[in-house]
Amino acid sequence: MIQSLKTFREFWPRDRVFDFLVPDTHPTLDTSHKVILYLEGISVSFDGFKAINDLNLYVDEGELRCIIGPNGAGKTTMMDIITGKTKPDTGIAWFGQTINLLKHTEPEIAEAGIGRKFQKPTVFEEHTVFENLELSMSADKRALPTLFSSLSGEQKDMIGQTLEIIGLAELFKARAGSLSHGQKQWLEIGMLLMQKPVLMLVDEPVAGMTRQEMEKTAELLTSLAGKRSIVVVEHDMDFVRSIAKKVTVLHQGAILAEGNMDEIQNNEKVREVYLGE
Ligand SMILES: Nc1ncnc2c1ncn2[C@@H]1O[C@H](COP(=O)(O)OP(=O)(O)O)[C@@H](O)[C@H]1O
Ligand SMILES: [Mg+2]
Repeated sequence: MIQSLKTFREFWPRDRVFDFLVPDTHPTLDTSHKVILYLEGISVSFDGFKAINDLNLYVDEGELRCIIGPNGAGKTTMMDIITGKTKPDTGIAWFGQTINLLKHTEPEIAEAGIGRKFQKPTVFEEHTVFENLELSMSADKRALPTLFSSLSGEQKDMIGQTLEIIGLAELFKARAGSLSHGQKQWLEIGMLLMQKPVLMLVDEPVAGMTRQEMEKTAELLTSLAGKRSIVVVEHDMDFVRSIAKKVTVLHQGAILAEGNMDEIQNNEKVREVYLGE
């Protein structure tokens, strides 16, 4: 049993070999053109209000893309469309070249390899860090944790590697409810990693974090770049700067600007609607 282990090393003595970071690729996913996500001409209205307005977005395989925009810009709605929670009124949305996102349900899209971390952490407070990771592997999230001894070697490796990646190795036996807000966010990123998604959507990961936690989160996401395709939505400009990859600015449901952080910061339109706030 996990509770009888004293240190993380007793549980997972291996060196850091983050081989499991290679995602599980769905048999019908085809990314031979190197683009993982295509959104074109997407619009959606709620009671006549256009939350997304003729949106075009292309994300390359292995890219870490930051999407920023003020509150109400449509960032979460865009993620709802990608994950099948909301169907747009017009437009096309593809996952690689072969998977038409508009023709699939939310569970089918998750199954195809798009994982999502919601804005609020939803860890299982009564369970340990370890058990939370264990639970995220099982289809039935309410299932009681299996006995440690029944985990396969591969599953143990996955949990061990994830604990190291998210920086919670020493806290593997801590109750999730006792973690700081930032640590809960990392645990949830870990739970997302355990599902081995090809594309990870991360909604406002640093909201409510301390500066130090924010820096660690930037490091964590940067370390995953290239291994997974990641779309991070944030409205914290300092955080986006610290990741310093390609940035897309969303405003009133459409793309206002795209480029590196310098280009974004020097863009007149962006300064007017966002930075000048
Ligand atoms: N289900 C919904 N019903 C009605 N209005 C919605 C719904 N979802 C989002 N909106 C509206 O769409 C706009 C964009 O919201 P959202 O995508 O949450 O923005 P962001 O995540 O960028 O802050 C907001 O004005 C919001 O009130
Ligand atoms: Mg939002």
